[in-house]
Amino acid sequence: MIRSRIAGIGHFVPERVVKNAELEMYMETSDEWIQERTGIKERRFGERHKQTSTTLGAKAAIAAIADAGIEKDEVDFIIFATLSPDYYFPGCGVLLQRELGITKTEIGALDIRNQCSGFIYGLSVADQFIKSGMYKNILLVGAEMHSMGLDFTTRGRGVSVIFGDGAGAVILQASKDDEKGILTTKLHSNGTHAEELALINPGSHGGYHGEKEKYGFKEDSPFGGVFVTEKMYEDALFYPYMNGQLVFKNAVRKFPEVIVEALTSEGLRTTDIDLLIPHQANLRISQFVQKTLGLEDHQVKNNIQKYGNTTAASIPIALSEAKEEGSVKDGDLICLAAFGSGFTWGSALIRW
Ligand code: UT7
Repeated sequence: MIRSRIAGIGHFVPERVVKNAELEMYMETSDEWIQERTGIKERRFGERHKQTSTTLGAKAAIAAIADAGIEKDEVDFIIFATLSPDYYFPGCGVLLQRELGITKTEIGALDIRNQCSGFIYGLSVADQFIKSGMYKNILLVGAEMHSMGLDFTTRGRGVSVIFGDGAGAVILQASKDDEKGILTTKLHSNGTHAEELALINPGSHGGYHGEKEKYGFKEDSPFGGVFVTEKMYEDALFYPYMNGQLVFKNAVRKFPEVIVEALTSEGLRTTDIDLLIPHQANLRISQFVQKTLGLEDHQVKNNIQKYGNTTAASIPIALSEAKEEGSVKDGDLICLAAFGSGFTWGSALIRW
């Protein structure tokens, strides 16, 4: 049986460290509030006009390609997950291809729009392509340049203190040992609460999914359906919105559920997990999941304290760091899990 494995991994975070105290300069917040509610002490912000989700992703990709011991021209497919793309379209996949200078081979590039669970969705797609024999070296990148699109006023503090910039990347190949590699991936979604963690504008919705006014359209507007309206500017309706408590409540339920689902399908138990890498949404969520599953501290990797929530990048950054630290060893059972906007969620089990 062909399995796919992570043959190379790398990550990159921008140099600029933004401590909680710096955010206190822009909005009414406090280091104490942020640490108590989220565990975050600092995050990284990219350099405006010089770095983008694509360029951060490219740095991580170069590291992953080197770690896999292949040449960049051997990459035969690109998958890019982000919620902070350089452009609304085209996606970051083609921009990354150009940034890496691998346009000659004209390989395919796919963009994934699954926010916090984007990396796991991407991993699952890559896994199927490798298992089917369609591609040999898939480059999967999760990258975010959140700092370009957050509301750094008191109005946006519920969202903006949480997010940070960064990127992680992996190279997927077929495993020579059929006991090792990706054992399973589980993907789920439920669109009921789509707008509860979302960046609504600009978009083609024209107010269709909710109250027109709330979404930036005047009731009698002759322009219903236009991409950007004056009201969107007036009410600053182009920043992300999050119903934090609703997301929190769903996350602490769905994380354990999807982890146990993956374990059960492989005849494994929580005690078999060597390392759980949860999407770094909030330290309190990770701690809740850890407690629910009865895992010890050394079985769970958290680095949100240093980087904040880097959405699609958080899992590959944490996995890459864990490998550097020596906490990912040959034969270990690694579990990845994520929950976020959509809502979408998923898990992956990897025998390293
Ligand atoms: O990765 C994407 C998925 N996202 C998540 O998983 C996030 C899940 N949710 C959370 O992490 C938490 O809900 C938050 C950290 C976002 C918020 O924590 P919370 O304990 O749910 O706080 P809250 O939203 O209920 O707000 C409590 C209070 C409010 O003030 P009042 O109404 O009690 O006077 C907020 O206005 O805290 C206030 N507040 C802040 N105060 C200082 C909200 N943001 C801030 C802030 N600094 N940054």
